[in-house]
Amino acid sequence: MMNKQGRPTDIIAATSQSRNSFTTHSGNRGLEQDELLIYEIGDQQRTGVDLEEVPGFEDRLGGITRDNEIGLAGLSEPEAMRHYTRLSRKNYAIDMGLYPLGSCTMKHNPRINEKLARLPGLGDIHPLQPISTVQGALLLMDRLAHWLKMLTGMPAVALSLKAGAHGELCGLMTIRAALDKRGEKRSIVLAPESAHGTNPATATLCGYQVKSIPATKDGHVDLQALKDSLGPDVAAIMLTNPNTCGLFERDIIEIADAVHDAGGYFYCDGANFNAIVGKVRPGDLGVDAMHINLHKTFSTPHGGGGPGAGPVVLSEALAPFAPVPYVVHGPEGFELVEHVPEGSDSFGRMTAFHGQMGMNIRALAFMMSHGADGLARVAEDSVLNANYVMASLEDVMTASFGGPCMHECLFDDRFLAGTGVTTLDFAKAMIDEGYHPMTMYFPLVVHGAMLIEPTESESKQSLDQFIGTLRHLTAQAKAGNKDLFSGAPYLAPLKRLDETLAARKPVLRWQKPEP
Ligand SMILES: Cc1ncc(COP(=O)(O)O)c(C=O)c1O
Repeated sequence: MMNKQGRPTDIIAATSQSRNSFTTHSGNRGLEQDELLIYEIGDQQRTGVDLEEVPGFEDRLGGITRDNEIGLAGLSEPEAMRHYTRLSRKNYAIDMGLYPLGSCTMKHNPRINEKLARLPGLGDIHPLQPISTVQGALLLMDRLAHWLKMLTGMPAVALSLKAGAHGELCGLMTIRAALDKRGEKRSIVLAPESAHGTNPATATLCGYQVKSIPATKDGHVDLQALKDSLGPDVAAIMLTNPNTCGLFERDIIEIADAVHDAGGYFYCDGANFNAIVGKVRPGDLGVDAMHINLHKTFSTPHGGGGPGAGPVVLSEALAPFAPVPYVVHGPEGFELVEHVPEGSDSFGRMTAFHGQMGMNIRALAFMMSHGADGLARVAEDSVLNANYVMASLEDVMTASFGGPCMHECLFDDRFLAGTGVTTLDFAKAMIDEGYHPMTMYFPLVVHGAMLIEPTESESKQSLDQFIGTLRHLTAQAKAGNKDLFSGAPYLAPLKRLDETLAARKPVLRWQKPEP
């Protein structure tokens, strides 16, 4: 069917056979160009720059001069441009389409954030500049701290942490410092099964023994099991809320009270704050320490290994142990406390400088452009979108815990039973349909998990298209069209990879082929 403009109105089905067998002479597919490794194009005599001979050059290496070629790839400027542009077109990005990776909040990054982060007065400053010349930047950090404290209902915040997991480490070190001050050496950290994987990892790194708390059949922390695990040796609980099943821990206040009664601290993993921002203040729930992933809740580029920021908000009890540096209001303007003041309980420092300034700017821009009401709308829309996806799919896929969910919805692989298609196959077939797969096999509490986080920045049209695609794939799996899945992706630059081999024996170095 064509519309009046002569464009097809329906997705044109490709048979699995044509997907498999269609090859081209050049290795390119339409305008998607095949690309060799940089060492395999150009040669070492070629260069994109024309450097003059250095006059009067004298070797000062004392006889340790390299005696063979360094082997760097030599490319002209147009070759280098093409190489990197072609590679960039193989990336899937949030700017290209829906990115439903659960627990990652892959959402639109408003361009105003980028513009502000690049303002010369912010983008070009250096952390070693005299304080008098960076008053604007310190004001920005102070404002950001104010917003974070207001939104969480917590009295203090450490801004310098560079990722969510880094924030977790800071939180646990703060707790350890508070316990040391009390003269207590507690050795256990409780981590529910539904916690993010970084939680037990952080506790272990910090020298604690991790005790896992089981989840109930409906995906929440088993309150009784938690209470039974508390005792004088428990330093803290690390609870992810909303948890990795996409559920709000409804017993959270009772959990906080029980942990406090046992003399422990309540660490909350607040990376999923986007589901509750502007609606719930963790300080009101009894939280003692919580990191916030600025690169999730408040946008900012995320997921491609780019910089992140994981500020940690702290309760009254933990605030005195916060790390340096922090901004204070001095008589002449803003000042930075760089060293632990005499007599202070601060546990020290975790970063060389003051944190990820670019992330701070983007997060504050996001907050100020949304306003308090707009931030509450972020939470509402992210929850609405996840529930819309769940409600639109639960008659064909198996929702693990039923609705309603928070900002992400969890399916397991029961709907694929007897089809011969696995969660991995299903996810790979999504790539052929032009979608980045959802998070697979996580959380571990359900079999063959598929965790979908649509985020608030998707339109209904985009969600409907996504839902339609998943319904189509589900129908194909149930109709026995196993070929569509078993070798997928058929249309990606690289086909099905041996992921186990790649993880066990990664090839990290290019070897020149024998002539
Ligand atoms: C719930 C949760 N906790 C912790 C983290 C770790 O954050 P980061 O990757 O910034 O270290 C993430 C990552 O997105 C997360 O989703």
